[in-house]
Amino acid sequence: METLSIYGATGLVMNMNKKSRVLSGIQPSGKLHLGNYFGMMSRMIEYQEKNDLFCFIVNYHALTTIQDKNELKNNTINAVIDFLALGMDPNKSTFWVQSDVPQVTELTWLLSSMAGVGQMERSTSYKDKIDKGLSPHMGLFSYPILMAADILLYGSDIVPVGKDQKQHLEITRDIATRFNNIYGEILVIPEPDINLETMLVPGTDGQKMSKSYGNTIPIFADENELKKSVMSIVTDSAGINEPKDKDTPLYKIYSLFLNHKDKELLSDRYDTPGLRYGDVKKELLDKIYEHINPYRKKRKYYMANIDDVRQILIKGKEKASIVANEYIEKIRKAMGITY
Ligand code: ADP
Ligand code: TRP
Repeated sequence: METLSIYGATGLVMNMNKKSRVLSGIQPSGKLHLGNYFGMMSRMIEYQEKNDLFCFIVNYHALTTIQDKNELKNNTINAVIDFLALGMDPNKSTFWVQSDVPQVTELTWLLSSMAGVGQMERSTSYKDKIDKGLSPHMGLFSYPILMAADILLYGSDIVPVGKDQKQHLEITRDIATRFNNIYGEILVIPEPDINLETMLVPGTDGQKMSKSYGNTIPIFADENELKKSVMSIVTDSAGINEPKDKDTPLYKIYSLFLNHKDKELLSDRYDTPGLRYGDVKKELLDKIYEHINPYRKKRKYYMANIDDVRQILIKGKEKASIVANEYIEKIRKAMGITY
């Protein structure tokens, strides 16, 4: 698979004798969907096999859009359970909830003098949210600094994300470079890892699939919900005897579930008259079900055993804190926050 990062294929990365630290986070801002799954989650789960994986649920970030206490709490634990069900292994990785290591908020403040107002104003994710009618509060505005702190607090080498996060990674790299120029080589400059095939999963309406656009196919949707969302994928009005357009959400979503050979077959079917979108949707429905079904049992288990989940998170907090404390101490010292 092609990627934008210099590191190349999945699974990779050995840096001399040291494993690379791969870190990414996801907001608990709603039900996780196939865009999250292909753009970030499944890749993280693969990475844990060969790398030093750090993965967390970024609930401080979600505060910028969710102000209902119970909704945030439920979303957070559900996101943790979704990850565990899909194969995140707390013994192979460091897996925690962002707010359990609050040193990240201190680092956000320490980095805020390295972050230009102009750069924050140019953040496309900030502009998108304001355009969608969210009030332009400071949380939304300084969101990229909190994300930079997330990445830099753990000395991350590689950050797997979807395309929408590319600019945030550029901001992080700028902040870290500025910091190192002033205070010495303390922060690791991270590389984004964006997979060209999965960087932008379309939603049922053809826009980017996103919790905030109401166009998602949730990973763990039940049969009815899944059927409803797959059947609602927009298609064009091409007649049965015409070849079909492949630059379309149905084709692109279906392709995500296919190996190289099956992708070619689907491509041929789209080129050949006679294809019915209704049939393709039914096949896609089966594919999604087949793909996700094996994970449902584990999800059910964790749902019924929340104490196990809490124990996992306590361990994750401990592991993440060791690294966070090391970095924050070095940073404080370098900046003169000591006496
Ligand atoms: P959402 O837009 O649904 O709120 P997030 O911003 O929480 O999603 O994204 C979490 C992770 O999933 C990020 O790495 C993001 O780049 C990735 N991601 C989200 N939506 C998509 C998508 N449609 N295609 C590919 N990756 C995506
Ligand atoms: N901003 C990211 C998103 O919306 C989530 C995020 C927060 C993140 N902190 C991070 C991703 C650190 C990677 C690394 O998807």
